[in-house]
Amino acid sequence: MASRYHDVYKRWQDDREAFWGDAAREIDWIEAPGKIFAKTAGPHGQWMYEGVCNTCYNCLDRHVERGRGDQAALIHDSPVTGQKKTFTYSELLDEVSLFAAVLSDFGLARGDRAIIYMPMIPEAVIAMLACARLGAIHSVVFGGFAASELATRIDDAGPKLVISASCGIEPGRVVAYKPLLDGAIELAKHKPARCIIYQRPMAPAALTAGRDHDWARLLADARRQGKKSACVPVAATDPLYILYTSGTTGQPKGVVRDNGGHMVALKWTMRNFYGVDPGDVFWAASDVGWVVGHSYIVYAPLLHGCTTILFEGKPVGTPDAGVFWRVIEEHKVSVMFTAPTAFRAIKKEDPDGALVADHDLSGFKALFLAGERADPDTLVWAEDKLGVPVIDHWWQTETGWAIAGNPLGLGLLPVKHGSPTVPMPGYDVRILDDECNEVAEGETGAVSIKLPLPPGCLMTLWRNDARFRESYLDEYPGYYKTADAGYKDADGYLYIMSRTDDIINVAGHRLSTGGMEEVVASHPDVAECAVLGIADKLKGQVPIGFLVLNAGVARDPGEIEAETVKLVREKIGPVAAFKTALTVARLPKTRSGKILRGTIAKIADGEDYKMPATIDDPAILDEITATLKKAGVGSFAN
Ligand code: COA
Ligand code: AMP
Repeated sequence: MASRYHDVYKRWQDDREAFWGDAAREIDWIEAPGKIFAKTAGPHGQWMYEGVCNTCYNCLDRHVERGRGDQAALIHDSPVTGQKKTFTYSELLDEVSLFAAVLSDFGLARGDRAIIYMPMIPEAVIAMLACARLGAIHSVVFGGFAASELATRIDDAGPKLVISASCGIEPGRVVAYKPLLDGAIELAKHKPARCIIYQRPMAPAALTAGRDHDWARLLADARRQGKKSACVPVAATDPLYILYTSGTTGQPKGVVRDNGGHMVALKWTMRNFYGVDPGDVFWAASDVGWVVGHSYIVYAPLLHGCTTILFEGKPVGTPDAGVFWRVIEEHKVSVMFTAPTAFRAIKKEDPDGALVADHDLSGFKALFLAGERADPDTLVWAEDKLGVPVIDHWWQTETGWAIAGNPLGLGLLPVKHGSPTVPMPGYDVRILDDECNEVAEGETGAVSIKLPLPPGCLMTLWRNDARFRESYLDEYPGYYKTADAGYKDADGYLYIMSRTDDIINVAGHRLSTGGMEEVVASHPDVAECAVLGIADKLKGQVPIGFLVLNAGVARDPGEIEAETVKLVREKIGPVAAFKTALTVARLPKTRSGKILRGTIAKIADGEDYKMPATIDDPAILDEITATLKKAGVGSFAN
């Protein structure tokens, strides 16, 4: 089939408002938007202006009203607990309206915030949708973050309540959430009035009298009393959620997503980009704590009337590297979405793909990868073993959906390995130099999006328009700065090569090395430090730290290194995967005192590097090389 992509992209270019106005007809509005785009509203315009709607209604009620009630909406498949549970659309609607009534009784109303700190259990999805039903703003915090990260988010969002579970399950260990939650509330200046705790039998938590409430008991009481909450009408431009993501400092950025534009954009992607129809089974193997989980475990599949899968497991070890194929076969998955790192993990365990042959994947149509650059080796391996299109697509927490990709629904374009293909309608992507001029084809520059951003992208940063402007709009006037570097080829294909800031991507998780530096620098024996990302065969990148100790410190440097590793795990969380710290006598710097992190990373990765013209003392690079060699780190690993 010839791709319709070029026609559709042109239709969008010719009349953007008409394009998104058409897409908006797929959504049920309480009041249709007065203006599809209001240029002067908010820091950079707002979509679906003056519309009134409810996201939960569009995800659940309308499907039940139109006969989809008995179809599976959510399948929880949990190899780490051995449990599987299916909710039909009717059942999910019942649970969500019941839990919304509980939240409403606790005073949660339109515009109030609730933090959700939960593992991959159905209650996390129920809590998100219940907030949406009430017009309350949820902020989901990933379970792999430590107490102080949770505290930072509590202080920024100012939630009325926190919804959590007693524990999460990681292979080989139970992660008790309650002590982390208690620690976070202790640290936070803002004290949420109430916590609702879902007790899991693997590690029930002690509840704090007066503040903590048992999920199951609250629900049983509400059910007995026949409570249910109706959908609260909200402005299309009201926030649906805040999702914190790493910025260039330890202070995360609170990405704010609206209700109306978000629904319109996500619904459009399901058929046109992912090529799925209502009733199909869609599986995003991610976590509800990340944007992929928000968009493609919860909202988009439900908006489209699909069955979505909530997978509580890992690509390997739960129990083996065949679990993805088992899930695809058992639940008749049509399209799957995950991060390349998951496939690298599978490839490492089962290089010949022998476990694929044990399963009937005849209903499987395509695999989508995002979260980090899909390396051509992994792509080719997956194509070869699965025999379906494997599609890399590029996006960010900020955009909420793909900026560029190969649209299966519109018809695939020729694949070029290493490129996430072309910009989606909505995105006018330009490659700029430092003076904000477009660079020539094939030349690397700052990948930028000409304003306005399409529906579904961030509205602003929570209560911080100034940081929003400064982070994304000020550097290239008239453009959104993606902070990715890359280039476009003669066919308009994009190549996204690296970040231009201190963000690294570890196993598809976005982390700030600046944030880690702040923690390492807080160690009393550390005079200064540098944390940077180096290449890793499995995780894409991993952080390593270089420490310069205070003069006169007589302790064993190995002990101090181990303490900084422990500190990062305690302060940021295990997800940071900070396992290597190396003591050095000095750090390489420019004459103006900037640490040459990029050059150190190149040395560690075994790449060629140019001696920076402004380097203060070139001999320090030899010292760094010797330290890396001695420790057997990066390209010096044995
Ligand atoms: N709660 C608590 N701890 C968590 C956690 C959670 N929800 N998720 C991860 N962790 C912990 C892990 O147990 C691990 O701890 P350890 O240092 O004690 O081993 C640490 O955080 C690092 O986790 P991770 O980076 O996920 O590595 P891993 O070794 O556990 O697994 C992969 C590696 C590749 C199998 C795994 O990262 C994976 O499947 N990633 C998928 C990526 C993904 O979903 N990305 C989201 C965007 S699409
Ligand atoms: P996150 O906000 O966690 O989704 O991370 C967004 C960042 O991940 C982007 O800015 C890119 O640096 C990187 N990224 C995500 N998807 C891709 C991709 N397909 N190719 C290259 N980089 C990607």
